Amino acid sequence: MRLSTAVTVLGATLSHFTAAVPVQDSPRQRLLDGKPLPAKYRKNPPNPYRPGFRDPDDSAVDSIGRKLDPLPYRNGDGASVLGPWNRERARQNPDLVRPPSTDHGNMPNLRWSFVDSHIRIEEGGWTRQTTVRELPASIELAGVNMRLDEGAIRELHWHKEAEWAYVLDGRVRLTALDYEGGTFMDDLSQGDLWYFPAGVPHSLQGLSPNGTEFLLIFDDGHFSEESTFLLTDWLAHTPRSVLSKNFRNLPPDIFAHIPPSERYIFQSTHKPGSLPSEFPRGKHVKRSKQKFTHRMLSQPPHNTTGGSVRITDSRNFPISKTVAAAHVTIARGALREMHWHPNADEWSFFLRGRARVTVFGAEGSARTFDYQPGDVGVVPRNMGHFVENVGDEEVEMLELFRADEFRDFSLFQWLGESPRRMVADTLFQGDREAGERFLKAVEDGGKDEVTLPPKGGGGDEVEEGREDEL
Ligand SMILES: *[C@@H]1O[C@H](CO)[C@@H](O)[C@H](O)[C@H]1NC(C)=O
Ligand SMILES: *[C@@H]1O[C@H](CO)[C@@H](O)[C@H](O)[C@H]1NC(C)=O
Repeated sequence: MRLSTAVTVLGATLSHFTAAVPVQDSPRQRLLDGKPLPAKYRKNPPNPYRPGFRDPDDSAVDSIGRKLDPLPYRNGDGASVLGPWNRERARQNPDLVRPPSTDHGNMPNLRWSFVDSHIRIEEGGWTRQTTVRELPASIELAGVNMRLDEGAIRELHWHKEAEWAYVLDGRVRLTALDYEGGTFMDDLSQGDLWYFPAGVPHSLQGLSPNGTEFLLIFDDGHFSEESTFLLTDWLAHTPRSVLSKNFRNLPPDIFAHIPPSERYIFQSTHKPGSLPSEFPRGKHVKRSKQKFTHRMLSQPPHNTTGGSVRITDSRNFPISKTVAAAHVTIARGALREMHWHPNADEWSFFLRGRARVTVFGAEGSARTFDYQPGDVGVVPRNMGHFVENVGDEEVEMLELFRADEFRDFSLFQWLGESPRRMVADTLFQGDREAGERFLKAVEDGGKDEVTLPPKGGGGDEVEEGREDEL
């Protein structure tokens, strides 16, 4: 929490305690002086979900890290819960149970967790999806989380949508045929990407020792992993006489024992060999000139004061014409700054850490959501938002867009690069002195995608309002 915020909390709510608290070196004075609080206030902040707790600044509370049970009390209002109550869900959604006082209006739900998706279990793997059916705001993109054990194969298939993917763990082998009939094969590891344009036939296979898990993104939220075109499904629904004719008049009996229906994911009979040993050898085989894969995490990051950003889109991964991506890390106490995306909805996937996001939708509407690993968020295009690290570890996330290029606008940069009097008149007619301080802070700032408040201006040791304790 920023020091100035802490001071406001204390200043606003401590006035009736000041008589009892010695002024010299009191916790309040220490905050005002920018000195660290005594350990007792840092280590054991009081439970903020009580009737008497006040925090007019709506600071984040890490209810999971602190093992707190959020309750709907806010600044003297609210009441306890009498009816049935899902404590686990409440703890995961502290900002739905007690929304910041700034939340308002009819913003639809913008959060889903893959753990609430149906898992399709197959031989040697599983798959689950987050589409417009799970999360109605997921209109532009659909996500699939898939696991293939060592040797397990996602069978040869294609689909109407383009497919982008990020390897979450392990190693995976890809095969594909490009539009010119070139053969493509590559092995990928954690942090690597692939992209197959619509219709490109491909397969996936888990490599040793434990196979792989990855996130697939399709450029249409109505995508369904049940509706892909599978080799086995097609052959099972083609007259054998035609199969015979298509494949050089082989006797129809050759096809007597092909799978009667789709295989989808299945265990292979052998461990995959090296790439060169598995490369097809027919006399018409040629190597694809396309680059369907990219090492995203090997890109040097753009470092910011509070984290790092890697952007992969058609500028550095030319084949990825319909999916743009950013890999973002947000340090403890840092904020993916207030911004918006002008060209596409954001589909975010949380890999590590705990975060809260408030989405601003114009007409006074705003709603806050909490995310943890395995969760999906959507932010409709142009809606202002931030991502605040509220936990005790780094947040790592992917921001995905149905777009050829990643684009965002930074609020901080915009205000720093607008005429001073315009900004001051808009925001600070009520307090000229505050306006001066604000303009000084933003004018030399520029864009800082993941921002960490400078030391002295705040500090993450200071926990949120503990006023009735001081
Ligand atoms: C493979 O999985 C087993 C069982 O989950 C685990 O003990 C082992 O560490 C894993 N090996 C690697 C290299 O990840
Ligand atoms: C960014 O930060 C990483 C990790 O701290 C560091 O290795 C790298 O050199 C930095 N890059 C630049 C351009 O400063």
